[in-house]
Amino acid sequence: MSLPNDLSFEPLSDAFAQDPHPYYAALRAKEGLTYFKDFDVWLAARFDDVSEVVMHEKMVRSMEYIANEEEIAEQKRAGNWHDMPHHSRFVQFSLLDSDGEIHDRLRKQVFKLFTPVMVNKLRESIQTYVDTLVDGLADRKEVDFIDDLAAHVPGHIIGRILGVPDEDCPQLRIWSENIVQFFDIDRSDERKELAERNTTEFYHYLLELKAKRETAPKDDLLSLMIEAERQGHMNHDEFFSTAMLILMAGHGSTIDVLGSGMHALLKFPDQMQRLRDNQGLMKTAVQEMFRYESPLPFFHRYCTEDVEICGQTFSRGTKFGVLYGSANRDSKQFPNADMFDVGRSPNWHIAFGRGAHFCLGNHLARLDMDIIFSTLLNRFETIELAEKSPVYKRGLSVRGPEALKIAWKRK
Ligand code: HEM
Repeated sequence: MSLPNDLSFEPLSDAFAQDPHPYYAALRAKEGLTYFKDFDVWLAARFDDVSEVVMHEKMVRSMEYIANEEEIAEQKRAGNWHDMPHHSRFVQFSLLDSDGEIHDRLRKQVFKLFTPVMVNKLRESIQTYVDTLVDGLADRKEVDFIDDLAAHVPGHIIGRILGVPDEDCPQLRIWSENIVQFFDIDRSDERKELAERNTTEFYHYLLELKAKRETAPKDDLLSLMIEAERQGHMNHDEFFSTAMLILMAGHGSTIDVLGSGMHALLKFPDQMQRLRDNQGLMKTAVQEMFRYESPLPFFHRYCTEDVEICGQTFSRGTKFGVLYGSANRDSKQFPNADMFDVGRSPNWHIAFGRGAHFCLGNHLARLDMDIIFSTLLNRFETIELAEKSPVYKRGLSVRGPEALKIAWKRK
């Protein structure tokens, strides 16, 4: 397979959405990093190159290190990110998009609720919630795995961690989806207005909930952050941007990998059977789902000084695109990288990133997956694909099926 020049890399096309991997393979086969002019980025596609970029000490996520206010405003106008007062306060700024002291301080405030020990405490309540959902679907012969099941879990669980009442979680999911969608391919004024309106509604909702927790704290993330704010570790805007980020970072990504993970099991029935026969493989199977179709395949970095990286020299302010989705299919790192192997070990994939910004919610995402797939394999005798080829989402920043029709038979 050869895609000879930059013009061939069309990440917003339908063909890329259906299967980005030949495009990634072509990028990996090229020497050095590849300049992609549509996004004005240098793309790192090989595992070693992606790792080198994200671990480099002169790389940051925030533009503030490399541009002045005027230049940032100009960039925002170019991307139609301007004139969004709430979006710019609570979404365009976040711990994910900050570096150095601000990043470390914010991450420290919330980190403690996402350790393996804390996340494991949620196992029982997630299981009960998933059982209830599956009870409501089990008699149906066919379901949309995404819409009927996967979409109801991650946002709901994150909502509980934050301290959002169960009945409000569906609304949070809608806000989060509409806000996140503006990041990727559709930057129209219409979507911009929706993203700003939903950020505003989300903010007002959290403001009210915060007021309640201030008078009656609970054992939840909002109460923890209220204490952090009281002690001067977070300001008003940081409080809300962190709460929103946690929901937005973990909701869609987990739904997407649930969808592509299920699709992989259906495409490779021998692997599904292997997992059925030996559910002790669930941990490695979940890891493999993240590697095989990484749900957040693309992130960026800027260099704060002139750097020599991956054998090339780049000047200060250069923007790099790190393709986690491609790195995870690099056969130099993963033998038979295009094979889905539920027992793959070792499996040092990079779907959760690496370095300072390493995903905060990785244990939670893996627990959701473990519980859902174990439950389905235990409760259904057969699970089959009920459509020919599921349509995948368009865009470079996300990877997952729009819908996934499956037929199943309960035990
Ligand atoms: C399917 C699941 C997920 C994937 C593939 C994923 C992937 C990632 C990646 C790649 C990054 C680093 C971005 C970079 O390198 O610039 C990241 C950061 C982050 N993720 Fe996740 N994530 C997932 C689920 C979650 C969940 C469930 C939560 C929270 C409940 C979460 C919260 C965060 C946060 C707060 C950050 C920013 C960390 C920082 O900047 O220090 N993620 N995630």
